[in-house]
Amino acid sequence: MAISFEGQVALVTGAGAGLGRAYALDLASRGAKVVVNDLGGDPHGEGADAAPARKVCDEIKAAGGEATPNFDSVSSYDGGFNMVKTAIDTYGRLDVVICNAGILRDIAFHNMSEADWDAVFAVHIKGSFTVLRAAWPVFRQQSYGRVVLTTSSSGIYGQFGQANYGSAKTAMIGLMNVLKQEGAKYNVNVNTVAPVAGTRLTQTVMPQEMVEKLKPELVVPAVTWMVSKECQDSGIIIEAGAGNFNRASIVKGAGVQPGMDQLKDAEWIQANWDKIMSLEGAEPMWRTGQTLKDYLASKASQG
Ligand SMILES: NC(=O)c1ccc[n+]([C@@H]2O[C@H](COP(=O)([O-])OP(=O)(O)OC[C@H]3O[C@@H](n4cnc5c(N)ncnc54)[C@H](O)[C@@H]3O)[C@@H](O)[C@H]2O)c1
Repeated sequence: MAISFEGQVALVTGAGAGLGRAYALDLASRGAKVVVNDLGGDPHGEGADAAPARKVCDEIKAAGGEATPNFDSVSSYDGGFNMVKTAIDTYGRLDVVICNAGILRDIAFHNMSEADWDAVFAVHIKGSFTVLRAAWPVFRQQSYGRVVLTTSSSGIYGQFGQANYGSAKTAMIGLMNVLKQEGAKYNVNVNTVAPVAGTRLTQTVMPQEMVEKLKPELVVPAVTWMVSKECQDSGIIIEAGAGNFNRASIVKGAGVQPGMDQLKDAEWIQANWDKIMSLEGAEPMWRTGQTLKDYLASKASQG
């Protein structure tokens, strides 16, 4: 059955270009009314321009959909609230938030300035906090919400020259892990996408031919699915792009449990290092002390 967003309202940050634009267009084509947020600055986070958000709204309307632009910066606390207010004032509700806005300030760590660090954290991690902090009371009140955060393989696995960006992107996973728990009771699902696509952000590091091939539309289905009412999963990281969809996960190894009666020393750790390092039997966790498998079983038994 077709996945529909009829009657729903979505807010997509950084939707004036690249991946965000593609998410917004797909959601609108499926009936969502969309708040298209974009500050319209350059890839390093300088400047502002209303044109990108306006243009995407025009595209959505030309295709028969409904959209409203918003030009606030996600890194402003008031800006986050203003985006949510735009959704409520214009359309009366908010069902979906996709935290997608992003910038890059790549530089080898020994040359990274405080400004390079702060600017990237302000947009990616504070920029997700501001918008979700504003949306959260709405989601709780209506007992419904769907969120997708944006991480990156640079954070999950590492990428030279991206200490600021990689760590800000991995912070998204921490945010997801907490919000998936705080949202569970209210039917608020929080998942994360690790995309790969040819966009303004990647055109400086990818050959032009690859930029053209790696269309953002190759990422879109995974995000549309995760923000749909049909998707019941929360706390999941999906890598998507270049014709690939897979799950990435932090897992906990079985380890060794010598108990607390007798203190061990570093030599004991050395002797047991291979067993401690082993990922045989490793499992994804739902929260500290509970595996995802146990959580799903307890959820199923509650009906
Ligand atoms: N393209 C990739 O391969 C890739 C890989 C991993 C992660 N990502 C992430 O995907 C997201 C989308 O990136 P993209 O590749 O489409 O880049 P993009 O530059 O095409 O789009 C990012 C958009 O965010 C907007 N933006 C930047 N700062 C903002 C702010 N403070 N407030 C509101 N809007 C702001 C920009 O104006 C831009 O339109 C980013 O979070 C990026 O880090 C992309």
